[in-house]
Amino acid sequence: MDKCSSHLFHLKLRFIHRKVGGKSETLEDNQRRRSMKVLLTGASGFLGGRLCHALLRHGHSVRAFVRRTSDLSFLPSLSDGVALELAYGDVMDYPSVLAACTGCNVVFHAAAIVESWLPDLSKFESVNVGGLKNVLRAYKETDTIEKIIYTSSFFALGSTDGYIADENQMHSAKFFCNEYEKSKTIADKIALEAAKEGVPIVAVCPGVIYGPGKITGGNVVARLLVERFNGRMPGYLGDGSERFSFSYVEDVAGGHISALEKGRPGERYLLTGENASFMQVFDIVATIANTKKPSLNIPLFLIAFYGWLYVLFCRITGKLPLISPPAVLVMRHEWAYSCEKAKRELNYKPRSLREGLDEILPWLKKLGLIKY
Ligand SMILES: NC(=O)c1ccc[n+]([C@@H]2O[C@H](COP(=O)([O-])OP(=O)(O)OC[C@H]3O[C@@H](n4cnc5c(N)ncnc54)[C@H](OP(=O)(O)O)[C@@H]3O)[C@@H](O)[C@H]2O)c1
Repeated sequence: MDKCSSHLFHLKLRFIHRKVGGKSETLEDNQRRRSMKVLLTGASGFLGGRLCHALLRHGHSVRAFVRRTSDLSFLPSLSDGVALELAYGDVMDYPSVLAACTGCNVVFHAAAIVESWLPDLSKFESVNVGGLKNVLRAYKETDTIEKIIYTSSFFALGSTDGYIADENQMHSAKFFCNEYEKSKTIADKIALEAAKEGVPIVAVCPGVIYGPGKITGGNVVARLLVERFNGRMPGYLGDGSERFSFSYVEDVAGGHISALEKGRPGERYLLTGENASFMQVFDIVATIANTKKPSLNIPLFLIAFYGWLYVLFCRITGKLPLISPPAVLVMRHEWAYSCEKAKRELNYKPRSLREGLDEILPWLKKLGLIKY
C-alpha cells in the first residue's frame, strides 16, 4: 500500500465503530489508549522535557532525539527502567532524522532554535524550517508513522494589535520582528501544505510558554523574573500594556498529547492561555511575593539601546542575549489569541496566569535563583 492509500485507510479505520464492553467506541478511542512508540525531537528543551515526562506517564515509549551536546538533566533517568531511549542526531542532518523516525508510530517535532537573536541568523531557517522538512521527508520514507504533531507557535499567526485572533489568522508575512518569527511562520505554512497533500500532521501553537523547568532561551518568563528579583530590571518593559498569551508548560504538554489523541490532521490548535501584559505579570508576582511593584516604566527605546550593547557583548563572549533589539520589536506589538478551538476539540484546560505564577515563584526560590 503506498503512503497516500495507507493514509486514507487510516482515516477510514477511525470512523469504524465497534462494541467494547457494551459501549460503542471508535478506533480513534482505542488508539488513544494504545501505547505508541513516539519520537520526540527537542526532548532536551524546556517544553520537550516536560512533554517527555507526560508521554511516559501516558504509557507511551519515547525515543528522545537529542544532540551529543544536549544537557539531558531534565529528562527521566535511563536507569529507572522507564520506556525511554535516546537517538542522537541533529534535525539538520537527514540521515539521523530518518534513523530516529524508523519504527516510530508518532513524531512530536518540538526541536527549534528559540532565541530572538543569533550571531548566525541563517541558523533559524536551517533548523526551524529545515528540521521540519527533514521530518516530513522521513515520514514519506518510512511506513510506520501515523501522526505528526508539530510544535508551531503563536508567532506563526502574526501579531494581533488591538484584537484577539484565532486559528484562522494567517501571518501577513509582510514584516517580521525577527528571524525566529519568520522561520516559525514559514514552517507552519509548510506543515499546513503537507497536510493538504495527505500527511497526517497537526500543528499546535503555544503562546509564551512559562513554568518550572529548564531555563533555556524558550523560558523567557523565568529569565525575566530572575532579572526582576535580582534588581537588574528596575521597571516595567515599556508602558507594559501590550498583551501576550501566556501558556503554562504543563498545560502545553497536555495539549500536545490531546492533539495526538483528538487533533484533526491539517488543523492548527492554539495552545494559548490568559492574554495579559507583562505589566500584569510583574504586578501579580509582586502580590504573590509580597514585594513592591515596579514604580517606573523603562522606555522601549532605552531597552533597545541596551539590547544593542548586550548583542555587542554577546558577539565578543559568544553568549546569547536575553534582551536584543529584535526582542524589543516583539514588545511593540500585541500577541493575544483565543484557545476556544483547543478547549472545544482537545479538551484543553489552560490555567490562569495567577495559578501558573503561583507555581513558578516558589520553584525559582527553591532553586535559589530569587529571594523574597
Ligand atoms: N518557549 C516558548 O515560549 C514557545 C512558544 C511557542 C512555541 N514554542 C515552540 O516550542 C518548541 C520548544 O521550545 P522550547 O521553549 O522548549 O525551546 P528550548 O528550551 O530552547 O528547546 C529547544 C530544543 O530544540 C533542540 N534543538 C535545537 N536545535 C537543534 C538541532 N539542530 N537539532 C536537534 N535539536 C535541536 C534543543 O536541543 P539542545 O538541548 O541540544 O539545545 C532543545 O532540545 C519550539 O518548537 C518552539 O518554537 C516555544
